[in-house]
Amino acid sequence: MTATIGHSPEVRADLDNANIARIYDYFLGGLYNFAIDRERAERIKLMLPSVDLLARGNRDWLRRSVRYMAAHGVRQFIDIASGLPTVGNTHEVAHAVDPSARVVYVDNDPSAVAHGTDILAAEPHVAMAGVDGRHPEQVWAHPAVRELIDLSQPVGVVLGGLLVFVRDDEDPAGLVAAYRDALAPGSYLAMSHLSADTVDDETRAQVGRMVAAYQAGVGASLYVRDKATFSSWFTCMELVEPGVTLMADWRPDPGLDVDAQTPSRHLGYGAMGRIG
Ligand SMILES: C[S@@+](CC[C@H](N)C(=O)[O-])C[C@H]1O[C@@H](n2cnc3c(N)ncnc32)[C@H](O)[C@@H]1O
Repeated sequence: MTATIGHSPEVRADLDNANIARIYDYFLGGLYNFAIDRERAERIKLMLPSVDLLARGNRDWLRRSVRYMAAHGVRQFIDIASGLPTVGNTHEVAHAVDPSARVVYVDNDPSAVAHGTDILAAEPHVAMAGVDGRHPEQVWAHPAVRELIDLSQPVGVVLGGLLVFVRDDEDPAGLVAAYRDALAPGSYLAMSHLSADTVDDETRAQVGRMVAAYQAGVGASLYVRDKATFSSWFTCMELVEPGVTLMADWRPDPGLDVDAQTPSRHLGYGAMGRIG
């Protein structure tokens, strides 16, 4: 069964299969999700009750990262493994600083790309590209990227949802280095990652069950990584202060630490490197 989503009748959603981007949208409190997504999301939440706060913490970190890059002169952004461009995403933050900023969202899920394209139809200088983020050369070659992004100028690249899906044998460090090496001096690479090295055994077990529920619900494999591994990916970049921290501790907005009391606060690192 399918249904219309967004504004265009030709953009149709698969109602029989849950979707990572729409589950994430549900966790964020968005409107682009269906019953099957909500049902799978609630099963995942049973395993890790604060998983929605983890998603919100990741999105809040992303917003602060984009705001930092825009405040430091970046006017073009690529958000890789973006999910749906809703709920205060990259283009909204960038355009609050400069309405002429250019943004390309990249996702390999055709349904997220179709819905995202529809959502962004009225947005100037913003596009959605259907590309597998594990292949940077395909990202650079995509027509939307070629049209909107000038690689000879600084670019803000956000890897806020990709690396958690990349297996060790797919060489995440090499993937990050490939993105880094394509960027002009003055560019920034912001990354976040699921982690569980500072939590108690019960929370770590919940994370394991949450990962299994994602696998069962949408067939996606998620990987948990420690601080040393995540930090090692910032080689040959200048780490922006305060370095590698829990996402919630990366340049927090005063008084807005919504998840201060929850285990999810300790389940993800965030950091940003500047390319010199
Ligand atoms: C957790 S959601 C979006 C998170 C969002 N970036 C944020 O930080 O708020 C993860 C997204 O990654 C996408 N994704 C997973 N593997 C990918 C890949 N290899 N290339 C591109 N997108 C990918 C999924 O389709 C999903 O929409």
